[in-house]
Amino acid sequence: ETTPDLVVVGSGLFGLTIAERAASQLDKKVLIIERRPHIGGNAYSEFDEETGIEVHKYGTHLFHTSNEKVWDYVRKFTDFTDYKHKVFGKYKGQVYSLPMNLALINQFFGKSHTPDEARALIAEQASEFKTEEAQNLEEKAISLIGRPLYEAFIKGYTAKQWEKDPKELSPDIITRLPVRYTFDNRYFNDKYEGLPVDGYTAWLERMADHPNITVMLDTDFFTVVDDYKGKVPIVYTGPVDEYFGYSAGKLSWRTVDLESEILDVDDYQGTGVVNANDPEVPFTRELEFKHLHPERADRYKPGKTVVVREYSRFAQEGDEPYYPINTADNREKILVYRDLAKKEPMVLFGGRLGTYKYLDMHMAIASALTMFENKLRPHFEDGTPLT
Ligand code: FDA
Repeated sequence: ETTPDLVVVGSGLFGLTIAERAASQLDKKVLIIERRPHIGGNAYSEFDEETGIEVHKYGTHLFHTSNEKVWDYVRKFTDFTDYKHKVFGKYKGQVYSLPMNLALINQFFGKSHTPDEARALIAEQASEFKTEEAQNLEEKAISLIGRPLYEAFIKGYTAKQWEKDPKELSPDIITRLPVRYTFDNRYFNDKYEGLPVDGYTAWLERMADHPNITVMLDTDFFTVVDDYKGKVPIVYTGPVDEYFGYSAGKLSWRTVDLESEILDVDDYQGTGVVNANDPEVPFTRELEFKHLHPERADRYKPGKTVVVREYSRFAQEGDEPYYPINTADNREKILVYRDLAKKEPMVLFGGRLGTYKYLDMHMAIASALTMFENKLRPHFEDGTPLT
């Protein structure tokens, strides 16, 4: 067994991008250490055997970017379909088109509005609070979109997401609540959008498929840390607080429970994602994966569909950490960890868990490409230290 030139901890899109670049551009031997039984991090998916439907194991993953470099890079490994994401929301027995737009406003208030009429209506309803004076999330939301839309489309959903009354949540959690005064209901505004034609896992596996890359699955880095720490450069994409033994305390995360079910109907909800805005419905949304790939219709088993319900809660010991929580307490801790990370010799910290930042896939890839060019390439080519 030869010593690798670089160890990458975690095989999510951040780790894979680093590994692929070092292997293909610098001809370095890379060892990827992954504690799960599969590569790909949270973007991983599987084709359900019974129905032929691709199921995203860690929640829906929609690819979108306006970054030309990222778009060129990802297409080395996969083509993308022309899927454009749409989201709907159920409230009191009706289904509305999200994000909030003219169709939703007209349906909700039961009459047609011109864009200017709708704008005036929402501005009038939003005048109840001044944004700068909002004391909590509820007042801030009302100051942005008015009470009626807040109570229908933000209040119940937010309360479920945070397990807290929005009156008890910080106004800083939201900065804007976009309302579109058009009928445009495309969810993302990015220039490029689509889903990997052969599925996420085929894409992720192609990134790792290089003779210079070795993948060690089912291996927690901390069980082999002494073999590599201080001996070879390491790019670490696991939780930053875990790396430092939680010395500044645990960072808190939100997690999502995913309850999957195969139903004996061809089509359950007619679209991929429907939010549950009613406060008494315990889940936050329902996902029906077959709708993400209408082009695969002839490969699906007729009369069957896969539906996943998402339940949001605070992560406990052993749960998957999904979303960082922006509170003063966590902000203080992360500053301490960032400082420790900067000083850690021969180790670079990256990705969602390594930086305690929510990163979309395109952001994780962009950030890894930057780390590769600014830190790893100079290190390997000119011997500059890894900091
Ligand atoms: P990621 O979490 O993917 O990978 C980290 C890897 O490190 C994991 O495989 C983990 O097992 C491993 N690891 C951690 N500690 C380790 C240790 N000690 N030893 C070994 N291995 C270790 N993005 C987007 O663009 N569109 C979308 O629709 C979504 N949707 C979405 C839903 C949900 C619920 C989440 C949580 C995230 C998304 N994302 C997304 C974000 C997307 O998943 C994101 O880009 C990646 O998580 C970022 O990749 P990373 O490589 O940073 O982390």
